[in-house]
Amino acid sequence: MSYKLGEVILSRDTIARRVKEIAAEITKDYSDKDGVVIIGILTGAAFFLTDLVRELSEDLDVRVDFMSVASYGEATQSSGVVRIFYDMKSSIEGKHVIVVEDIIDSGLTLSHLLSLLQQRKPASLKICVLLDKYERRKTEVKVDYCGFRIPDKFVVGYGLDCAGKWRHLKDIKYVIEE
Ligand code: PRP
Repeated sequence: MSYKLGEVILSRDTIARRVKEIAAEITKDYSDKDGVVIIGILTGAAFFLTDLVRELSEDLDVRVDFMSVASYGEATQSSGVVRIFYDMKSSIEGKHVIVVEDIIDSGLTLSHLLSLLQQRKPASLKICVLLDKYERRKTEVKVDYCGFRIPDKFVVGYGLDCAGKWRHLKDIKYVIEE
């Protein structure tokens, strides 16, 4: 099967406007907190995260870190396992953590990751996703900040890939399968 780019689902301007709105919400919610840590889950979320944090207030006490993980999902014998390829550098004990993802789909990755991060005793733990493919959810996950709810269609761009391709697109586009 081959793939080609389809129509724009979310333009760069639409994304930028929503990113500013989410940043304003986070700034408001965390303005009285010390020790906020924003953790991006590589690779896709790096694009959203770097735009998001630059829209936060300069007064916010915030740090940025990254993790790279893969969820084994429900297909494995040992469910609830997240394999860590790269762990964050700092401790999150007593910190106010916001996990940033590009997309939530089945919810398994975030669900497993949250259980793992809770064991590290953060003061609070919230989730921020750019895209929510809510129709595909297999496990309940509370999403605290959401950019856009989108239909169950293959999309790429702004960090999202198709076998590693098209992450660099400024707009988010549909993929057409041929
Ligand atoms: C994507 C996304 C989440 C996961 C969501 O990662 O960034 O980590 O899939 O799916 P789920 O809700 O069904 O668990 P991907 O494996 O594509 O990695 P990438 O960011 O490196 O492209």
